[in-house]
Amino acid sequence: MAVQVIKGNIVHAPEIDRLDIVENGYLVLKESKIEGVFVHLPQIYQNVDVEDYGDRLIMPSFADTHMHAPQYAMLGMGMDLPLLDWLNTYTFKTEAAFKDTGYAREVYQKLAKEMIANGTTRVCAFSSLHLPSTMILMEEFEKAGMTGYVGKVNMDRNTGDVLSETTEESMRDTLKWLDDSSEKFGHIKPILTPRFTPTCTDELMTFLGKLAQERNLPVQSHLSENTSEIAWVKELHPDCRQYWESYKKFGLFNERTVMAHCVHCDERERKAIKDNGVWVAHCPDSNINLVSGTAGVRKMLNEGLRVTLGSDIAGGALLAMNQVITAAIRASKAKRIETQWTDDFLTVAEAFYLGTTSGAKFFGAQGGFAQGDTLHAIVVDDSSLPLSAKKLSVQERFERALYLMNKDNIVAVYSDGRKVK
Ligand code: GUN
Ligand code: FE
Repeated sequence: MAVQVIKGNIVHAPEIDRLDIVENGYLVLKESKIEGVFVHLPQIYQNVDVEDYGDRLIMPSFADTHMHAPQYAMLGMGMDLPLLDWLNTYTFKTEAAFKDTGYAREVYQKLAKEMIANGTTRVCAFSSLHLPSTMILMEEFEKAGMTGYVGKVNMDRNTGDVLSETTEESMRDTLKWLDDSSEKFGHIKPILTPRFTPTCTDELMTFLGKLAQERNLPVQSHLSENTSEIAWVKELHPDCRQYWESYKKFGLFNERTVMAHCVHCDERERKAIKDNGVWVAHCPDSNINLVSGTAGVRKMLNEGLRVTLGSDIAGGALLAMNQVITAAIRASKAKRIETQWTDDFLTVAEAFYLGTTSGAKFFGAQGGFAQGDTLHAIVVDDSSLPLSAKKLSVQERFERALYLMNKDNIVAVYSDGRKVK
């Protein structure tokens, strides 16, 4: 049986309130699956070659549970409008360009490489509505060593002229895309992606809800991001008391669903998320950039909701998930101020848990370096980060790395047991 041993300062968060650190520890893999983390290498592995990373940090790689791949082309631009104007002014135009498959290839190749370079190995991504470019995105993610889900976007109303599909086109292309992609890739699978309630007719939602149920497919969309959006959903679905019900009534709100944002969810909506087993993708940088608000992450966690982190590029301008993790900490501090010091902010360890273990769980892993999971990890060389007057502990170095590292500090990346950087 193939055994691998990796050595270094191992840091992981198996639980939200637990950061495990093993200095100069050993990570043992059998057939690419984690056997355990050890302070001393067990006798039976003494003859195995050790991949020795010396004083470097070894931690789980990141899971980005909400992002828009075509919007990589507008990263860092058009941040002067709130959500609905931002979509109409910049975003739909940017996505319309992905009708061109050559352009899609160029952008998606670069995106996939950048994500791996920055230590993201699990992703839940929106493509555009275009079938050929969606296949290209899946191909490029697969080639780069990513794992996770990609969705062809469904949007058959309220999108203007630049980017639109009819209900028939949307349904036909979705079926063809599922046929083409479901078995084609080892690590990238399809996820149903109604863009959000305002851009999907009831007919389309009914079709997608049925598909989700018949084929047991995961679903991703947006929920309660912005107050104007919420008011619009109320107008479109007067029978729904709250936004979430516009997904629930079509069978698109269950334990295989991930909903981005959830900024304005009140107690009743949060309870519905919890009771239906829906996953939340908290996107802190996007919520500030698009002036959406500050999500009540502490309340969600206290109430037992499953919260993960998303870059939401290009509403979010941070592709590197270590930066999304620290953005989540800052957003939680803004929330603490907003709630007159009642909601606690997130600790570094908690935010790290959300960006690693919690996200990994959405993809079916146990998270942390748990026995039986395949290895998803990064190796960080922090020797170029600012010099401290005293010798730092591994925990201090870990915290500093989350705030300050960039892709140059990430010297190795493992994804599903394969070394991909
Ligand atoms: N709601 C519908 N589409 C989008 C999008 O592309 N980005 C964000 N942040 N919210 C959305
Ligand atoms: Fe989004």
